[in-house]
Order: sequence, then structure tokens, then C-alpha cells
Amino acid sequence: MKLLIGPFSQILPLTGLPLKGTLQDEQLTVIEKGGIVVSDGKIVAVAPYKELQREYPDCELAFIDRPMVLLPGFIDCHTHICFDGTRNRDYAMRIAGKSYLEIARAGGGIWDSVTKTRIADMVTLVENTVARANRHLKEGVTTIEVKSGYGLNFESELKMLQAIQQASLHTAATLVSTCLAAHMKPRDFNGTEEAYLQWVLNELLPVLKAEALTNRVDIFIEETAFSATASLTYLQKARELGFAATVHADQFSAGGAAVAVAAGALSADHLEASSDKEIALLAKSDTVAVVLPGASLGLGMHYAPARRLLNEGACVAIASDWNPGSAPMGDLLIQAAVMSAAEKLSTAEVLAALTLRAAPALQIKDAGQLDVGFVADLQAYPTADFRDILYYQGKMKPAMVWKKGDLVQ
Ligand code: NIG
Ligand code: FE
Repeated sequence: MKLLIGPFSQILPLTGLPLKGTLQDEQLTVIEKGGIVVSDGKIVAVAPYKELQREYPDCELAFIDRPMVLLPGFIDCHTHICFDGTRNRDYAMRIAGKSYLEIARAGGGIWDSVTKTRIADMVTLVENTVARANRHLKEGVTTIEVKSGYGLNFESELKMLQAIQQASLHTAATLVSTCLAAHMKPRDFNGTEEAYLQWVLNELLPVLKAEALTNRVDIFIEETAFSATASLTYLQKARELGFAATVHADQFSAGGAAVAVAAGALSADHLEASSDKEIALLAKSDTVAVVLPGASLGLGMHYAPARRLLNEGACVAIASDWNPGSAPMGDLLIQAAVMSAAEKLSTAEVLAALTLRAAPALQIKDAGQLDVGFVADLQAYPTADFRDILYYQGKMKPAMVWKKGDLVQ
């Protein structure tokens, strides 16, 4: 059965936009008094409401009786929402001026979340992940990438990825999982970083593949995590095993983005410390440049150079990095809106970064745009003017959200 939803004050289909480079707001198609026809979870037509009434006279109707702006659901292509416990003590120390090293010495940092997540049972991890995914969904985020990386041993990495798989059965949001066993060398691993990465390749990834738990890997390239050389070898071997790659790159020091491009990674994420060289490499490549304003806000540091990346011609996506350490807020729209004012991003650039430009980071071809044949992942904001969405800096939330054509909010 076909369903006609509308009329909307404005529909922004976000179709026909280039994947890379700068965007002007004038490039956005705005359908005034628009409607959308959906069937079997897919989009059948997007056009002026009156036209659709004529063309689809037998449709069921979902009548919208208030001013509303319709957008595609957002795609958050980088999160760590499967974890237990908080790091509020780290945060209090950080805002009081303590350094990364001081916090780590006091028992904080990634390892603290590893300890808490290792002792959490499966039910707790599933519930935590579902609760966070559902909060995102209510806020219009219909597709969410979720990383492991707080297990860092065989049993706990497996537990995290199984929890993410279980969670995906209990939320309407689409979850895309990624193995981040290469988040840091676990403190209880006896051996070099190369030996640890080889262990992941030999012992963990084949099991993840056999059990269809994920087909993606991530690695944190940083002085405090893994070196560029060891990371490149790891990513190349993981790709040979059939895994797609993404990278935590250039967060505090440059170098990771070059590895991401050399390894043919789908995305290089963070980029706060990228130099002209990394920006040029990303711009020339098909690797999506994912900026994470939530981590800049959480760490009290500068944003990634999104403006320069766009000017040079990169594909820039914005993701939340929702995690217990550096990005506890997890509000994608607030983060994108706040960053856009500082980095001078156009509304078109921000909306594209949250939808069609995030899709290739997850190899998604049928979401992020309101086009015929795409999934009917939709969100409607209570306004008649799409510019209000960033004007209210993310405080205006969608009043309605549809996942695969079903109303979930
Ligand atoms: O993306 N940079 C490394 N990993 C996470 C932080 C994780 C944590 O602190 O727990 C990030 O910011
Ligand atoms: Fe991250």
C-alpha cells in the first residue's frame, strides 16, 4: 500500500548535489508545499503535494496539519555508543586543567572504559546501546555506525560486537558495526604493537568474519596509540581479509590521514591536526574526511579544518564520535550547528555532511537523500523555513521521524 505524507512547507531532497567540494545554499532544491509517497519502506515519489494527489489518488494519507520541513534522516558515521560506565571524573579533571597524561595516570582515559566495559554483561551492553541508538533516532539520526574498541581482548571484543548485533534487533535505527580492536595496545598484552595487531589479524578478525559480526575495521593512529607504519600494514592485511577500513587520523598529530588514503580507507576521521599535505591528499582521494566537532567540544580544542577541506575539494562528513571520554554529549545536530558557525560552513555543506556525504563512509547507496528507490528514512522539523534548523543551533529537534516509512517519533 502506498502512503502519501504531506503537505510539508518545504522538502529538501538533497539530491543532485556533488559529493565533494564546496556547496552554496543556492544549490539546494527546495520543494515548497511538497509531499512524499512511500511504499514498502522505500520512496516512490517526491514532488509538490498537489501533483502527488493527482498522480496517486488511491494512496493512504498521512496528513501534516502544521508547518514542517522534511529532510532525509541523518547518518552518523562514527560513534562508540556501546560502552558501560561514564568518565565524568576524567571530564572534571580535564575542565579543571589537568593534562591527558595526568588523567591517564589517575586511572582515566580509554583504559578506564575498557575496564568498565569488560566487566559489563551482555544485557547491560545491549540495553546501553539500544538506549543511545533510540535517543539518536528520536533526534533524526536513522543510521548509526557503532565501534567496538573497549574490549581489547578476544572475549570482550566479541562481546561488544555481539552486543551491537543484538542491539540492532531491538532498535529501528540501522546500526553499522566496526571492529576497533586497534584502539590502543591493551595494557595486559605482552608484546609490541606489531605483535598485538598481528594477533588481531590472526585470531580475532577471522572469527568476526566467520560469525558475520562486522566487515569493517578501524585503527587509532597516534603517538599514544599505533604508529603510521604498523597501521598501514594492519589495514592492508585487514583489507586482504575482506574488511573495509576507516581510521582515527590526525587527532593530535598529523600522519594518519596519509595512511588512510594509502590504504584505500573509506574514511579518515578527526583531522584536527591535519596539515596542508593531508588536506591535499584527502581532497584528491575518495576517502571521506569525517570531522568530529563533539570531540573538539569535549576536549576543549580547535575544530578540524572543515572549511579548508571543502575548499580543496574533499568530501566532508560530520559525525558525533559519541563516546564516554572525549565526546559524551552525543548530540549530532548541536555539534554540527556549533561547528558551522566557527568553521563558516554553509547550510548546504552541513546538511550534505550529515547525509549524502556521510553515506559513502559506510558504503551506503540508498540513504541520505530523498530520491526514488531510496529508503524512506525521514525527519520533519516544526518550522516553515529550513534555515531555522541551524539557526537554533541544534536545539530545534524533529517533531516526526520515519524509519523505512514507519513513524517512530
Ligand atoms: O574518537 N581518539 C580515540 N578514540 C576516541 C576516544 C575514546 C575514548 O576516549 O574513550 C575518539 O575520540
Ligand atoms: Fe572516535
